[in-house]
Amino acid sequence: MTSIVTLTMNPAIDMATRTDHVVPTDKMRCESPRFDPGGGGINVARTVTVLGGAAMAVFPSGGPSGVLLEQLVRDAGVPTHPVAVAEPTRESLSVTDIGSGQQFRFVFPGPRLTAPEKHRCLAAVDRTVRGGRYLVASGSLPPGLPVDFYQELADLVGGLGVRLVLDASGSALRHIRTGVHVLKPSVRELAECVGHPLPGRAEQAAAARQLVTSGVSEIVVLSLGAEGALAVTRDMQEWFDAIHVPVRSGIGAGDAMVAGLTVGLDRGLALADAVRLGIAAASAALVTPGTRPGRPERIAELYRSISPNAEPSGIWP
Ligand SMILES: Nc1ncnc2c1ncn2[C@@H]1O[C@H](COP(=O)(O)OP(=O)(O)OP(=O)(O)O)[C@@H](O)[C@H]1O
Ligand SMILES: [Mg+2]
Repeated sequence: MTSIVTLTMNPAIDMATRTDHVVPTDKMRCESPRFDPGGGGINVARTVTVLGGAAMAVFPSGGPSGVLLEQLVRDAGVPTHPVAVAEPTRESLSVTDIGSGQQFRFVFPGPRLTAPEKHRCLAAVDRTVRGGRYLVASGSLPPGLPVDFYQELADLVGGLGVRLVLDASGSALRHIRTGVHVLKPSVRELAECVGHPLPGRAEQAAAARQLVTSGVSEIVVLSLGAEGALAVTRDMQEWFDAIHVPVRSGIGAGDAMVAGLTVGLDRGLALADAVRLGIAAASAALVTPGTRPGRPERIAELYRSISPNAEPSGIWP
């Protein structure tokens, strides 16, 4: 049975290629592209699946690119619940300049969703989360959706007794008032949300705590890149070190973290251990290309290396 449903309102096909040098005007001959399914919730569902969890990815899907996206998600072993929309699913392009190693990333706004399409997405969530335990909503909002869309979602899943795990940024994050179980901003996103820099631990902890005391979220897990993470609830606050790994692609670390954290909570781990599982999944993803999840054995090994109470048999199915 599905226990973790993910929602990606603005998914994408991530097309990645390489060329000798990125230059203006001239045609740049590129290598054959690699296609990956993209978007926060879809990435989370891929890592949940790698960890042996039962995930289901809900996302709007339109046009031929939507059909390809659905195929790519299924190829990753993730059950899908696409919601048909009129405009085509977006594609994004990343081009690596082989000479300099620099990566150029081109991202589009995505299809404009109509009000009936929005309602169909919420209805799909309503159907798929029943009997499940967690809804993970992650990623940007496409044109056409109101900025308080995630609040509407929180109200919906709260009424169903399902816990909302949210990874949002910008105005979508600022418009959440209440009803989130776990909020996972990065320090960059939290600083943008509160409107001032968060240079040190005191400022970071105060800003995270404010989201708890104001009732936005029961748990805030603030991710700090190479500095690790901070977990805050009404009763506790704990800092976690990152694991030092050779970084190949930082893209998708946050999504992998959200996946590990949610799988950990779903399997009954204490919050601190669930955060450690999130850090292990994020670290394993840093050494894979693009947003590809790490290998499960690697995630397990990293988790055991940082969790004093690791009982591997208890959480690995
Ligand atoms: N350079 C790094 N070295 C070690 N661990 C890292 C590094 N970058 C990220 N991580 C791990 O991945 C987790 C999530 O990374 P990060 O805080 O960058 O979130 P993010 O969601 O990917 O960021 P953003 O959404 O702002 O791009 C961190 O808490 C950390 O455990
Ligand atoms: Mg992020």
